[in-house]
Amino acid sequence: MSDITPINPDTQELQHVSVLLAEAVDLLDVRPGRTYIDATAGAGGHLSEILKRLKEQTNPAVVESTQSAQSQVIGIDRDEDTLSRLRNRLPKEQVQLFHANFTDIKEVAQQAGLSTVNGGILADLGVSSMQIDQPERGFSFNKDGPLDMRMDKSQSLTAWDIVNKWSEEDLANIIFEYGEERYSRSIAKNIIRARPIETTLQLADIVARSVRYSGAARKAQHKRKSKGDGGKNFDSSHPATRTFQAIRIAVNDELGSLKKFLEEAVALLEPDARLVVITFHSLEDRMVKQIFRQMALSCHCPPRQPQCTCDAKADLLIITKKPIVADSAEVLANIRSRSAKLRAGIKIG
Ligand SMILES: C[S@@+](CC[C@H](N)C(=O)[O-])C[C@H]1O[C@@H](n2cnc3c(N)ncnc32)[C@H](O)[C@@H]1O
Repeated sequence: MSDITPINPDTQELQHVSVLLAEAVDLLDVRPGRTYIDATAGAGGHLSEILKRLKEQTNPAVVESTQSAQSQVIGIDRDEDTLSRLRNRLPKEQVQLFHANFTDIKEVAQQAGLSTVNGGILADLGVSSMQIDQPERGFSFNKDGPLDMRMDKSQSLTAWDIVNKWSEEDLANIIFEYGEERYSRSIAKNIIRARPIETTLQLADIVARSVRYSGAARKAQHKRKSKGDGGKNFDSSHPATRTFQAIRIAVNDELGSLKKFLEEAVALLEPDARLVVITFHSLEDRMVKQIFRQMALSCHCPPRQPQCTCDAKADLLIITKKPIVADSAEVLANIRSRSAKLRAGIKIG
């Protein structure tokens, strides 16, 4: 990923390329006079697009004569470094930025003077290229750095704690569950043997060797070769990808946060306002799909019950029957987009 990440020629800083930018902001249906929250502000790509569309549609005469066309835009990120970069770039008259976990979106809205959101809420999950490409943040298996992986540096749990303190069973379980890694047991065993592990490259090497030398991996490789594809169809991503993903999810409690965020966000939306979510791996997408489906149900009675007695009502109208994915041009230009899935819904009154 790092070899295709563009570098800003002025600052020499690594840049994050927003994924499904037009599609996500189209689905937010940006209109002047409404409030929008970008719950994962990151490099500000989606935020800037929201601001641009508001500006394009705002008639200066209307704004001057009444305050009715006044829009409010809020950005949230749990990474203070990311936010301070954004504060330098985005004018504070146009966007209010908050350092918070998006699980606290309701409290953030209250601080901004809002009890509901009448425009929409966007979340573009995971980490940014800037975070991955800074070795000192500890997210990268390609560049050496400390085992950190915290999006919010004020939290105490780090990747080092998980790698060096957790039991073999707990490690194997998260690598299997959050990384969907079939060699989780041998990776966990080799991590325990190699302790203490201090850096990302040390960990990546242990994982790569565990995968390469595991009996199951050798058998699978042999099978592919005997099928005659010469290993062509072998997943070419780095062998540590899944383990790093698993540890990162555990450090940042990404799935627990996502569930709480989705519930809080839908509760905060006014009727007709929108929720747009971009995910980057199957665990996140499955959770968004299931929670959206649950919220779209207008009856929670047992399926065989002949008549509804539950008095429930649907909270969300799903407007993406299938998730939207990046087209081949976007994947070619930004490899990170290949695993992105976008789902959106409209709050029902
Ligand atoms: C993929 S980037 C977003 C990029 C952004 N949409 C853009 O176009 O520049 C994800 C960002 O979300 C932040 N993030 C991830 N989980 C979060 C959470 N639970 N609460 C707040 N921010 C979070 C990360 O720190 C990161 O900056």
